[in-house]
Amino acid sequence: MTLSSRTVRIDAFGGPENLKLVELPVGEPGPGEIRIRHHAVGLNFIDVYQRTGLYPNALPLALGMEGAGVVEAVGEGVGHLAVGDRAAYASMPPGSYCERRVMPARCVVRLPEAIPFETGAAMMLKGLTVQYLLRQTQPQGGLQAGDAILFHAAAGGVGLIACQWARAMGLQLIATAGSDAKCQLALEHGASHAINYRTEDFVARVKAITSGRGVKAVYDSVGADTFMRSLDCLQPFGLLASYGNASGKVSPVDIGLLAAKGSLYVTRPTLFTHIATLERTQAMADDLFSMVTTGAVSVRIDQRYPLDQVAQAHRDLEARATTGCSVLLP
Ligand SMILES: NC(=O)c1ccc[n+]([C@@H]2O[C@H](COP(=O)([O-])OP(=O)(O)OC[C@H]3O[C@@H](n4cnc5c(N)ncnc54)[C@H](OP(=O)(O)O)[C@@H]3O)[C@@H](O)[C@H]2O)c1
Repeated sequence: MTLSSRTVRIDAFGGPENLKLVELPVGEPGPGEIRIRHHAVGLNFIDVYQRTGLYPNALPLALGMEGAGVVEAVGEGVGHLAVGDRAAYASMPPGSYCERRVMPARCVVRLPEAIPFETGAAMMLKGLTVQYLLRQTQPQGGLQAGDAILFHAAAGGVGLIACQWARAMGLQLIATAGSDAKCQLALEHGASHAINYRTEDFVARVKAITSGRGVKAVYDSVGADTFMRSLDCLQPFGLLASYGNASGKVSPVDIGLLAAKGSLYVTRPTLFTHIATLERTQAMADDLFSMVTTGAVSVRIDQRYPLDQVAQAHRDLEARATTGCSVLLP
């Protein structure tokens, strides 16, 4: 019997209207692959970049980078997963917006019993991102308890996980968000201060909060609208991790500015370098699972959509109408 899967894909780059639900055959896993039956699928801003073509991929393109479910079949040479295992992943290649798929096993880890599928689907890409940002993308000399950092879009999927993780590390996370209600949410999740960057000058507020010193690190996923002003929030030798472009791509930068503003460091990291091997993925996932199972981080799912409502899910995400994480239910 040939299995099939309702799958969301695009045939051309463009708006949410290009997202089409199609029925595709799903085969057996080859060497190094598994077949997973999804219980829930995570929605991420990177899915928007891939839909619009900002991050180009070959067409037609099945979208989605995050999911959780049960392993249905295991290919040759896969030792860490067995049929029937609960599992979750954040991974390349895209294609998680579906009922079931065949995919590389090296991106997939077993999901602890204590973590529900929806939570697993919502947290893998976003939580592993917070893991590598706060634990592995640090300024010179590292981050110590009491240090101030600035985290943009702090009421979003990545953002609310970061607020809680930073609190667990003893950091003073200064949040920015696009409404007073979102600022309140960031504060409730562990931010020490919150700035509505649609109505307030966040550079001035950061300077006031830090008695003029600035922060040791800025984590900026907003991109075009915030990048230059994020540099102005840093102490000398501070680090700007520019890890996203929700407002558009950052323009080319005159590197001399980094000298003028205090010997600053800038990095443009991506999760996919960090999770290139199963060993790294497992180590980072173990850290994330421990943060979640001990209650230090709770993964807030504020939006749930059936798979056939995926276009609405994209519209809401792009309209800044969401908070916390969103999942698709196949
Ligand atoms: N490099 C990596 O490894 C990596 C991995 C994961 C995620 N990311 C990036 O991290 C960011 C957060 O991802 P997420 O999936 O959790 O999304 P999200 O934060 O839930 O949603 C994006 C948020 O960005 C803010 N934003 C600011 N300007 C915007 C604009 N012009 N249009 C739309 N949104 C705008 C909005 O919050 P406000 O209304 O509060 O401003 C919006 O809610 C994204 O930029 C994503 O690409 C990067």
